[in-house]
Amino acid sequence: PKKIIIDTDPGIDDAMAIFLALRSPEVELIGLTTIFGNVYTTLATRNALHLLEVAGRTDIPVAEGSHVTITKDMKLRVADFVHGADGLGNQNFPRPKGEPIEQSAAAFLIEQANLYPGKVTVVALGALTNIALAIQQDPAFSKNIGQIILLGGAFAINGNVNPAAEANIFGDPDAADIVFTSGADVVAVGLNVTHQVVLTDDDRQKLARSDGKFAQYLCKILEVYFSYHDYAYNTKGVFLHDPTTLLAAVDPSLMTYAKGVVRVQTSGITRGLTLLHDTQKRFGEVTEWSDKPTVKVAVTVDAPAILNLVMER
Ligand code: BDR
Ligand code: CA
Repeated sequence: PKKIIIDTDPGIDDAMAIFLALRSPEVELIGLTTIFGNVYTTLATRNALHLLEVAGRTDIPVAEGSHVTITKDMKLRVADFVHGADGLGNQNFPRPKGEPIEQSAAAFLIEQANLYPGKVTVVALGALTNIALAIQQDPAFSKNIGQIILLGGAFAINGNVNPAAEANIFGDPDAADIVFTSGADVVAVGLNVTHQVVLTDDDRQKLARSDGKFAQYLCKILEVYFSYHDYAYNTKGVFLHDPTTLLAAVDPSLMTYAKGVVRVQTSGITRGLTLLHDTQKRFGEVTEWSDKPTVKVAVTVDAPAILNLVMER
């Protein structure tokens, strides 16, 4: 199976992605690294440890990530209004017993990429700070890491923080631009894809009746996520951003991809905006775009297949 490290800000949909990874024989979860986004990093770490305890997998290490952005002069924003004050649907779970390992997230990412050159996939489900720090601290990281599959961006559609920005990119725009222009094998899964993958209230009722290993736990934490989506999008369902991204690592054929240069607006009112320049349609050389490495951006998704995997596993 493919070795994966999930960089995460758990987070209700992060929890679904982590459980899905543990139920997918195609991948081997060798570690969790934590970052701010839905909650502050300290709480992300506590939630990561808690989720591994729920899963009976405290053998998997948790490495705590950065508490601050690479982007200068930025006030940290947390989306606790989406995931609950505790990040997991306000269920008041007991504090986990475990502790994170000594190493920082960036150090753990660098070490694992060096241990298994070209073999480790990072599934990045939060702000991209830890991955950008690994790129900055080890020039060989972009080549040693097998692939970076990230939930990030909103390509040719509105963001979810504001019309320009998707939450993970908005969380640390400079970090995102570093990752997109690093030359690593990057796959971006954006809202243009994940807004097509909706878990409905009927699906949730089915989960409540199923005896799946995590079904009951997920039903509990999903309540807050459903009420936020009902309020914000007036939908009778929730977007499966992080499980969809995880499944791109499990089975890349669930999506199709465009290839091109992605740049991130890092300041001003469109800070966090991601733009894909499909290099086949170059409209004259503009330095911010020419000579930059290309990445892959998911453009279509087999949503029924994804929902089926989420419900079955
Ligand atoms: C992303 O931000 C978080 O709210 C979710 O966990 C997901 O990773 C969606 O924009
Ligand atoms: Ca997330």
